[in-house]
Amino acid sequence: MSTATAKQPSWLSKAVFYQIYPQSFCDSNGDGIGDLPGIISKLDYLQSLGVNALWLNPVFVSPFGDAGYDVVDFCKVAPRYGTNADLARLFKAAHKRGMKVVLDLVAGHTSDQHPWFKDACNNPKSPYSNYFIFTGQEEQRSCYYYQAAVVKGRRGGYYKPNFLAFQPCLNYGYMNPDPAKPWQLPTDHPDCLAVRGMLRDVMKFWLDLGCDGFRVDMAASLIKNDPEAIGLRCLWQGFRAWLDRDYPEAVLVSEWCNPINAIDSGYHIDFMIHFSDSAYRPLVGPGYALNGKARRPHVFFERAGEGDITEFLRIYQKHYEPTKGRGYIALPTGNHDFYRNSHGRDASELRVLYAMLLTMPGVPFIYYGDEIGMRNLTGITEKEGSMWRAPCRTPMQWDGAKPNLGFSTGKSKALYLPVDPAPDAPTVAAQERDPDSLLNFTRKLLALRAKHSALGNDGAFCPLYAEGGRYPFVYQRSDAKGSFAIAVNPGEAEVTIARPQLKNAKRLLGTAVVKGENLTVPGVGFGIFRLAE
Ligand code: NOJ
Ligand code: CA
Repeated sequence: MSTATAKQPSWLSKAVFYQIYPQSFCDSNGDGIGDLPGIISKLDYLQSLGVNALWLNPVFVSPFGDAGYDVVDFCKVAPRYGTNADLARLFKAAHKRGMKVVLDLVAGHTSDQHPWFKDACNNPKSPYSNYFIFTGQEEQRSCYYYQAAVVKGRRGGYYKPNFLAFQPCLNYGYMNPDPAKPWQLPTDHPDCLAVRGMLRDVMKFWLDLGCDGFRVDMAASLIKNDPEAIGLRCLWQGFRAWLDRDYPEAVLVSEWCNPINAIDSGYHIDFMIHFSDSAYRPLVGPGYALNGKARRPHVFFERAGEGDITEFLRIYQKHYEPTKGRGYIALPTGNHDFYRNSHGRDASELRVLYAMLLTMPGVPFIYYGDEIGMRNLTGITEKEGSMWRAPCRTPMQWDGAKPNLGFSTGKSKALYLPVDPAPDAPTVAAQERDPDSLLNFTRKLLALRAKHSALGNDGAFCPLYAEGGRYPFVYQRSDAKGSFAIAVNPGEAEVTIARPQLKNAKRLLGTAVVKGENLTVPGVGFGIFRLAE
């Protein structure tokens, strides 16, 4: 039985995304920075991987203090990436292949170099004065990083930044504004509504050029003092109603990490960032990390075998059950903000991780380079406000070409970030030649997902074996066309369990074995099975 019932873009039930960090994907003109023509030149490759939608990190004019998440012109492509015409060409070329392209919408803030902000700081009669939040004093941290941000212009005082100090919040208003703080405007203040209107104009501009939707940066940050997301629901539901009416094929993806709130607010997809439960703990709850850094000493995807899948499941199901059929949870392979999943993990461990991530319900997202197991280049220098994030943002490794592994013909010194210097750095070309490579394994998983709808975005999900502190994790995916079981054992020790549902199961991928009702999963192993009728 399919669980998709809500009105949604027709392509979403089969969507598989690939995230492109534009500056690091493919440099077409040798200036050392990836660009839009470079992305266009790799569409055949992306199609061959089995993805059918792309999300590009911000490609707009910016001083790049936060790698483009500090925008000065929301409607213009940064010259280093190309032109608006190049972006339109990318939309067209992707559509020709049946692929979609989603842009990053930095809705919550601008750069402090944005002309509106500069005008608001310097011109006492600026029409943009209330587009930002000029506080008489420092306000308490509200969202992520609160840094004291002192106005440099004539106005003096402080302003409220959304992330880093040079990213002033756009003003969508406050829930229950405090009358003692006159800068706290209500959400229906005409200037706050004007900011909403501006955001809609930006979306309209790109949708009319051919884009297929948006990944919304810090989606939960827009309305202040709104812990229950009451104002946020209203705001995003308004945008969703508008999209449903005028652009029903456009998708909204949120960086919220709280699928219940995000999907109730009208988002089609919300990320559950499962590789760091510390960053998103306040939004989604503690203990749900599957891999990567967590506050707990162990995560489930570790050879030590001391993680606890029930911690993840408790939170996952809390969000999955009430949202299924109305929107999707995305469990990405990685992203541009965290260590790559290959950090401390070899290719066999990555296979087990991907066996789960790419057979779960919801919409898969593959972070560029994860399909070949690109390394997290720890120790490299910071770039454009990367802080801890440069190691996961290095150039894509296409082939053995010296010196930049096919990313750029420019001088190594000119590169956005260095390429992996390891002599055995994984590349697409080498892995194309090896039928057992991680790249071809990722392809196999995506092909299996595409072939059996039960394994896809809408198939039902039900745990078959998930015991606190025990391995493996086994779950069932099913729809009217069939039922499947997936067993993953990231731990080093072989494990055997029994489940009646597994009798006569036929293995499709992996090395786990079923005998009678018994399932044995080798250490760092997995199995994907078709269940008997
Ligand atoms: C979340 C983005 O993913 C991150 O890269 C960025 O620095 C912040 N939002 C601020 O926009
Ligand atoms: Ca370039």
